Amino acid sequence: MSDMSVASTATRKAFDAQAIRRDFPILSQQVNGKPLVYLDNGASAQKPAAVLDAMDRYYREMHSNVHRGAHTLGDRATAAFEGARETVRSFLNASSTQEVIWTKGTTEAINLVANGLAQKLKAGDEILVSHMEHHANIVPWQMVAERTGAKVVPILVTPEGELDMESFNSLLSNRTRVLAITHVSNVLGTINPVADMVSQAKARGIITLLDGAQAVPHFQPDVQALDCDFYVFSSHKLFGPTGIGVLYGRAALLEEMPPYQGGGEMIERVTFEGTTWNTLPYKFEAGTPAIAEAVGLGAAIDYLNGLDRAAMESAENALLNRANQLVETVPGMSIIGTAKHKVPVMSFKIEGLHPSDIGTLLDQQGIAIRTGHHCAMPLMDFYGVPGTARASFAFYNTLDEVEQLFTALQKVQRLFA
Ligand SMILES: Cc1ncc(COP(=O)(O)O)c(C=O)c1O
Repeated sequence: MSDMSVASTATRKAFDAQAIRRDFPILSQQVNGKPLVYLDNGASAQKPAAVLDAMDRYYREMHSNVHRGAHTLGDRATAAFEGARETVRSFLNASSTQEVIWTKGTTEAINLVANGLAQKLKAGDEILVSHMEHHANIVPWQMVAERTGAKVVPILVTPEGELDMESFNSLLSNRTRVLAITHVSNVLGTINPVADMVSQAKARGIITLLDGAQAVPHFQPDVQALDCDFYVFSSHKLFGPTGIGVLYGRAALLEEMPPYQGGGEMIERVTFEGTTWNTLPYKFEAGTPAIAEAVGLGAAIDYLNGLDRAAMESAENALLNRANQLVETVPGMSIIGTAKHKVPVMSFKIEGLHPSDIGTLLDQQGIAIRTGHHCAMPLMDFYGVPGTARASFAFYNTLDEVEQLFTALQKVQRLFA
């Protein structure tokens, strides 16, 4: 046995992925006649029974509209909904639930911030993003730039898939108004040095937003330690339901921003002469919210809180290490994104094979991965590829599944060779 496999066995025992898998009903099925190997967690993660049960219980026992205070069910629904907000606050270590705003997801959260900051932007101002952003952290800024005359400027990426800090330093200027970057790249898995970048930006009075969509499934951010102005993520990547996400925002900035949408809930008083806004966080939550989904997200975070997070991180690292070791067993395979600090996401190509063919052939063997541009076309252009194949692991994946992936890739490669 190599040192690596001894260490992996120890991690497996300490973490017991098999026991954890039993918490996720969807994982125990066959797909195309083979046991499902789900390696598309970066696109959307699976849900533990605790989340399904919490949402089911909510609808069976307490559903009503929230914040109406008219009857008992309404009070129960409101308590569950606001309880979930407190769970998110604690998860992010935000100082107040006023700073935790429900959105549909990461995409809507970034659109909300971009719109809210439009009034602070003028022609010649710069919004610094990076070459490795998801389209959700590029396009909303481009739309606001078009309206205001500001400019979206990308920080370069190194061939290994790290942010180029020389490029960052050279682009920071007194024209920079906003720094909006991803905490973790969905394509490369790179964990960016966001705390340092935020601190440099802050020193110049630049507003900062971190896209945490791919970070939160792997580790817990601390928004006060990061000192960012905004932090956004989606529930469905954090083992919670679809249809809900979170915008953390510094209260002072949220107070200055205009509402994103108008309607019920977000108002204090409406007359035909004019309307005044509700207090935070409700000012940004027009209409009946996604109540059951908030409850589900709260349950997902409670579930994660019950796991040994340090053991989970080392189990995930063991998956990535094993995958890296096995790359050389597939002729012509290479990894895109070899940063020093990574979450277990592996984008790859195999010479002579189109990513979508790899995906289809793996699916026939019960293995789900993602192929394509991953909503990161500028990054695909940088690497000169139309797309990649991507295996993205979660804590419920096992070393056996990593081996199965590579056995299947060897087969695919032989088929085309
Ligand atoms: C880094 C990153 N940002 C933003 C998003 C968009 O998330 P959503 O579609 O849940 O709004 C994703 C989704 O893949 C992502 O990976």
